[in-house]
Amino acid sequence: MKILITAGPTREHLDPVRFLSNRSTGKMGFAVAQAAAERGHAVTLVAGPVSLATPAGVARVDVVSALEMLAAVEELLPGQDALVMTAAVADWRPKQVSGTKLKKAAMKPTLELEATPDILKTLRPLKQGRLFVGFAAETGDPLAEARRKLESKGLDLIVANDVTQPDAGFAVDTNRVTLLAKSEPPASLPLLSKLDVGREIVAWLERRSRP
Ligand code: PMT
Repeated sequence: MKILITAGPTREHLDPVRFLSNRSTGKMGFAVAQAAAERGHAVTLVAGPVSLATPAGVARVDVVSALEMLAAVEELLPGQDALVMTAAVADWRPKQVSGTKLKKAAMKPTLELEATPDILKTLRPLKQGRLFVGFAAETGDPLAEARRKLESKGLDLIVANDVTQPDAGFAVDTNRVTLLAKSEPPASLPLLSKLDVGREIVAWLERRSRP
């Protein structure tokens, strides 16, 4: 298969030195990319700003903002069989962006924000026969929210992780996830390395893509 994977955070700059972002390190997405490449799939990784080495055999495109990630995914999608969005895309960006460093004295104590585009929802009309996989980073009831996102984003599979657990979610090498697919019972996996979570997702894609 040809698999497009996004990883890491996005940064939404206010000026050249300040930005809004989140705690994603890219580990989960890079692990999915490694797992897919190990199985012989053609993998392209669209990565936000992270400090990780590219897994062997994976093509990589680096981006910074949500808009750049959307543009890269939109351009690459036509050649792909599946899209796996592990990236923690920032939902908001500053409305005004300065090309030069803002002086502290000239700044207001409040920021005006505007929403970034939802990449999965924007690309839904281009989905056609492709498999779309999303992740859900939750702090409350992971399954209820994941189910809502599975429907609202038109996904085939959503991978729910409870990011309040110290050994799961952001920045660690392990994750505890539930795979929630349309018309399948939820599959809760035990604590696994992120590479093994990646292998489970790749195995799911392989099963689903078979005629
Ligand atoms: O990178 P690590 O440190 O290893 O951490 C891994 C992780 C916690 C970031 C990862 O496991 C994870 O949960 N990624 C999804 C984080 C997230 O943004 O979840 P969400 O519930 O806000 O978004 C749901 C889905 O919509 C995600 O697939 C996301 O990529 C996508 N999305 C979100 C916002 C947006 N503007 N466009 C999108 O397409």
